Amino acid sequence: MPDTPTRPTIGILGAGKVGTVLARLAVAAGHPVVISGSGSPSAISLIVDVLAPGATAATSASVIEQSDVVILAFPLGKLHSIPPDALAGKLVLDAMNYWRDIDGDRADLQDYTTTTSAIVQHYFASARIVKAFNHMGYHDLDESARPKSAPDRAAIAIAGDDPAGLRRAAAVIDELGFDPVEAGGLAEGVRLEPGSEIFGARLSASELRAALDRFPHSEHGRRVAAGRSQQPAETR
Ligand SMILES: NC(=O)c1ccc[n+]([C@@H]2O[C@H](COP(=O)([O-])OP(=O)(O)OC[C@H]3O[C@@H](n4cnc5c(N)ncnc54)[C@H](OP(=O)(O)O)[C@@H]3O)[C@@H](O)[C@H]2O)c1
Repeated sequence: MPDTPTRPTIGILGAGKVGTVLARLAVAAGHPVVISGSGSPSAISLIVDVLAPGATAATSASVIEQSDVVILAFPLGKLHSIPPDALAGKLVLDAMNYWRDIDGDRADLQDYTTTTSAIVQHYFASARIVKAFNHMGYHDLDESARPKSAPDRAAIAIAGDDPAGLRRAAAVIDELGFDPVEAGGLAEGVRLEPGSEIFGARLSASELRAALDRFPHSEHGRRVAAGRSQQPAETR
């Protein structure tokens, strides 16, 4: 009998609204899925059984160890709760956004002359960070997954500096039921962040591409460009 190809193991740090939706979609796509909260696996095992049956609750350290691809789905303000070298060598999909009500008033996280995923990449220096799954609300994520070529398939934008990482991220997004659309390098991840036209929107691939291309002419885009023109390039 031929071997059944195994899909890469997806690890998710964060068992909240986004983490459990992504876990459910990844299980449905045939991926082994391990997921953690901030505490022990027993604290989230019931939630995982109900919201993402088939996924396995684990500690964050175990999730990272077992996974081929790690998704960050916890509050950005908790970034430093994961040791900086914990994700060394991993492909990491960063779904996090800076959200003041949750993360507090953090000057280090709301500098739009950079992007939060660039901050995450700087912190996890030896991981390959791709910004993904950050711009669509969790309800839309939950309800919008479709098979390839479905006429109403929604799109997810990605941004990253590593071409191989972007290709793998795109494959995962496609498997989970969305059309991947590349926005550019991590610096262009600002086009996916709160304040951008696509943030919170559910768009097709062509609509998403057009909105990403409009970003420089938007009010937020002009604000970002003005801020960046006053910054030395190496700090972006
Ligand atoms: N909500 C959305 O529609 C949406 C959409 C796209 C992106 N995002 C972004 O995705 C992230 C998660 O949002 P959410 O709405 O899912 O938040 P949430 O419902 O509050 O869930 C956050 C989860 O992260 C866990 N967590 C905290 N520190 C952790 C750590 N060090 N390791 C593992 N897990 C940890 C929390 O566990 P405890 O409960 O044990 O603290 C909780 O399970 C945020 O950055 C948000 O901006 C949200």
